[in-house]
Amino acid sequence: MGFRKSGLPSSLAAAAADTGRYCGTSAQIEQIDGQPDLRAAIVRECTWLTPEYALKWDAIEPKPGSHLFTPVDDLLRFSDAHGMKVRGHTLLWHRTVPSWAERILRESKDWGPIHRHFSTVLARYGQAIDQWDVINEPLEPGHHGDGLRRSVFLDVFGPDYIRRALEEARILAPTARLMVNEYGLEYDLPDERSRRHCLLKLVERLKAAGAPLDGLGIQGHLDLGKGKIDATAFGDFLAEIAALGLFIVITELDVREADRQAPVAARDRRVADEVRRYLDVALAQPAVRGVITWGMTDRHSWLSPSTADEGHATDTARTTRDRNRGLPFDAAMHRKPMHSAIRESLLAAPR
Ligand code: XIL
Repeated sequence: MGFRKSGLPSSLAAAAADTGRYCGTSAQIEQIDGQPDLRAAIVRECTWLTPEYALKWDAIEPKPGSHLFTPVDDLLRFSDAHGMKVRGHTLLWHRTVPSWAERILRESKDWGPIHRHFSTVLARYGQAIDQWDVINEPLEPGHHGDGLRRSVFLDVFGPDYIRRALEEARILAPTARLMVNEYGLEYDLPDERSRRHCLLKLVERLKAAGAPLDGLGIQGHLDLGKGKIDATAFGDFLAEIAALGLFIVITELDVREADRQAPVAARDRRVADEVRRYLDVALAQPAVRGVITWGMTDRHSWLSPSTADEGHATDTARTTRDRNRGLPFDAAMHRKPMHSAIRESLLAAPR
């Protein structure tokens, strides 16, 4: 791992290791294979890797019983060769249930398709992959009394689907650490206040029911249009989650910009300052074990307007001008102030 003349580690991975933590990013194996500068940055900066979408249900089983394992196999081979660990993102997410599966679930009201999905994926990867987001984004406060999101899972199986999924995953992958992954937990906004509250209640209920929940993933999609991060409320929330016995990972850190017309230096400063404010609160909590960014370089940001919410992003669809600059490296793979912000926050964190 790289060290600066100062003796302080220069890479994110080394800075994280300095306080016993880890650092990583999400990626697509096709990008790692096709872009040597990306590959080099990932090898240097990361000890964890999350497949950006290859493990999602609609990506891995586009047609019933017909699986596309190659991208995940290849990503695992790459991470293995470089001593990296992989996050299992994600078993159940309302946005990536294949339409064929949603139809069967709604018609049959039978857990069978979920069981088959879990069995196949966990038989193949349950040992090789350490952490699993068993459920991604279960909350959407305002719809259901307990803040659970309306989804095919809630509609068909009721609120107990979360416990059931965790138990099933535990049986199929007994050594893996099982997590719930959620967003929208850091700002001083009514919706985020209610998300913190509902998530805490959900974890309390799951723990009281003896559900095998080991950790909480906090996506950490920061947003310069959302006002202030509520440092006190976010810090208290992390402490309460930790007190319930869970470890915590920041799983998808990036920053959505509010003003892409400002000079680049000012934009990069704002992004970095927001990240520093956020990580200083998060990393003050010893239960926060790792920081994963949602991409390494602005070249691949899912937040660039031409690609956001349009399914899987391709590089060519992005233009330089409207690119979001919310990741540690710019599109030419130069370090930005956000890189220093993550690194310095890691180095300043209590052990
Ligand atoms: C995004 C990917 O980056 C896109 O390429 C894909 O089309 C949609 O999903 N929260 C999550 C991630 O948990 O899985 C999402 O990833 C970003 C928001």
